[in-house]
Amino acid sequence: IKHIGVFTSGGDSPGMNAALYAIAKSAEAKGIKISGFRKGYEGLIDGDLVPLASHELKKITQKGGTILKTARSKRFLELEGRKKALQTLKANNIDALIAIGGDGTFKGLLAFSEICGIPFIGIPGTIDNDIFGADYTLGFDSAVNTAIENIDKIKDTAESHNRVFIVEVMGRDSGYIAIHSGLMVGADSILIPESGKDFIYLLDKVKNYDSEDAFLVVVSEGDELGAELVSSKIKEVNPNVDLRITKLGHVQRGGNPSALDRMLGIRLGVAAVNAISQGKKNAMVGILNNQLHLTPFEEVVKQHQVDNELYELLELFGK
Ligand code: F6P
Repeated sequence: IKHIGVFTSGGDSPGMNAALYAIAKSAEAKGIKISGFRKGYEGLIDGDLVPLASHELKKITQKGGTILKTARSKRFLELEGRKKALQTLKANNIDALIAIGGDGTFKGLLAFSEICGIPFIGIPGTIDNDIFGADYTLGFDSAVNTAIENIDKIKDTAESHNRVFIVEVMGRDSGYIAIHSGLMVGADSILIPESGKDFIYLLDKVKNYDSEDAFLVVVSEGDELGAELVSSKIKEVNPNVDLRITKLGHVQRGGNPSALDRMLGIRLGVAAVNAISQGKKNAMVGILNNQLHLTPFEEVVKQHQVDNELYELLELFGK
């Protein structure tokens, strides 16, 4: 392998820059040239690539976002787009590819592998933590830290006014950010997409709520109700509540990566280059039980499940 291409794709997440630094550093140590495609699959299609050097990347390892920029490419979903991407790889003599992103990114690589035979290695980069084959995805820890920092502040004002507060957190179809942040801020109720009718317990609790304290609900954006519906259901059973909604939104995607995410970026970046050097292909590097693992893309894109221990915690604290 002489020339590796790398790109970030899907939603950005804190720690992506640390991973890029590690990839460049490790490739340089092996005498491999490294180039970055800008804006995810879009850059691959358009031949928008820049040389990467570890001494430059070292300066931005602590920064959130991705210096390569990112996108959710519609064109790459079409065979025509993938054919153009193949031409880009050939024209630039790129003989391996590393992608940092979520399950949509890996589905893209699987489709691309039907027409392109060079090795592809993935790194799980999404705040949602919904990737099979990784205990933690790059950016999840930082996003949860941002969420709890902000919900702690909301709790101060909620308690001062004895208000019901509904805080909606990100996560798409996954409740990981909601469970983790909800547990850590002492929420009275945590609603996640994976567990269906949890709001019944919430309504039971809030029916008898006497306005002598705050009542904090953390709801995942992917929950079937969402913040507004939860709010109207609460008002149906207890019309007297003084209620406010806060949606944390994209603030959860930004900010400097936590220590854990910087370390994860460094470990996974180096592991991705090692995997390519060892002749591995079409798999994602991830950390399971603190050990590096390679999981084939076919497995990675399967439905990710919330593990049982977390459900038990949810039962105990969030209902
Ligand atoms: O996948 C990361 C994520 O932040 C999800 O939690 C959220 O649903 C989505 O991306 C938002 O996407 P966009 O930035 O395109 O609005």
